[in-house]
Amino acid sequence: MRPINRPIRWGILGTGAIAAAFATALRQVTDATLFAVGSRSQTSADDFAQTHDVGRAFASYAELAADPDVDVVYIASPHTAHFEHTMLCLGAGKHVLCEKPFALNSTQTEQMVALAKHNGLFLMEAMWMRFIPLIIELRRRVDAGEIGQVRMIQADFGFRAPRNPHSRLFNPELAGGALLDLGIYPLAFSALLLGAPTEITSLANIGTTGVDEQSAYVLKHEGGELSVLASALRTQTSMSAWVYGTDGRIHLPKQFWRAKEMVLYRNEMEPESIHLPYAGNGYQFEAQEVVDCLRDGKTESEIMPLRDSESLMGTMDTIRRQWGLTYPNETE
Ligand SMILES: NC(=O)c1ccc[n+]([C@@H]2O[C@H](COP(=O)([O-])OP(=O)(O)OC[C@H]3O[C@@H](n4cnc5c(N)ncnc54)[C@H](OP(=O)(O)O)[C@@H]3O)[C@@H](O)[C@H]2O)c1
Repeated sequence: MRPINRPIRWGILGTGAIAAAFATALRQVTDATLFAVGSRSQTSADDFAQTHDVGRAFASYAELAADPDVDVVYIASPHTAHFEHTMLCLGAGKHVLCEKPFALNSTQTEQMVALAKHNGLFLMEAMWMRFIPLIIELRRRVDAGEIGQVRMIQADFGFRAPRNPHSRLFNPELAGGALLDLGIYPLAFSALLLGAPTEITSLANIGTTGVDEQSAYVLKHEGGELSVLASALRTQTSMSAWVYGTDGRIHLPKQFWRAKEMVLYRNEMEPESIHLPYAGNGYQFEAQEVVDCLRDGKTESEIMPLRDSESLMGTMDTIRRQWGLTYPNETE
């Protein structure tokens, strides 16, 4: 792929909650402009364009994908549409940053990756946690052996949402449930430090709307390391993470996926508090990575490579198979 030697022109597909947050974050990104938005309706596109100062507002996703002046499209539609919309944009020659979960399953993920490779285009899952400064620092310190060898990870992401059967979170038609929305974060956190699991055991509490309202996952890794993880839509959890090593441990006490602080406990030493605050909502870091990759002519991020998205999706496929949970109209 040829490097792009001018500010990168972004298009946003969808006008919901995360699209708005991403548009706000883009203002903090160097060498990037929010150029166009696409919606299923002209009114939503126009409203979004006015609020976020976007020059072009399209009444269909196809028109956004066809705009020859857009370099990269951020896919901000519900999980069930990630595959279709990523394929649409890659097919139209656009680079793509697609929200998590990357797709519904491995079959879809493989097709997305294959099309990006075939067309020589950049593709990345919007796993923004990986680009948060504190998470990068955590990884650096773990790699430097500051807590010895990692032996166990604990992480959870749960909150109590009202059980609205029509909301994205609870609606099986939109692939609702805790796993794909929230469980993906502790699973991605574990994968970041320990890689893919070799064994997976999980349990889910399937609620009245037919999706997992809470679920727990125990993973075993190649060297016998364990990850003890959970997510929930109807239970507030600590949202924290622990990384336990042979010579110490690290605690991310609050919202580990977007953390600004952690505490490092090393055997026989005073605990060390590490603070890496940032301004804004935190989505600017993943967006900056995409921009930097495009300006360098890279088709993949080294921090969030496609093989890691494929692996994460494989883990979630296995977990859902253990529960017998499929979504209506899910294509395999
Ligand atoms: N990274 C994060 O922190 C984070 C946070 C929240 C959500 N997400 C992810 O982002 C995605 C969107 O979440 P969201 O909270 O922004 O959802 P949302 O507020 O419901 O917005 C989704 C948007 O997608 C478009 N859309 C296309 N097909 C749709 C359909 N069949 N039903 C409803 N909307 C449809 C709509 O835009 P138009 O009406 O303009 O077409 C809608 O506004 C999800 O996959 C979620 O996992 C990520």
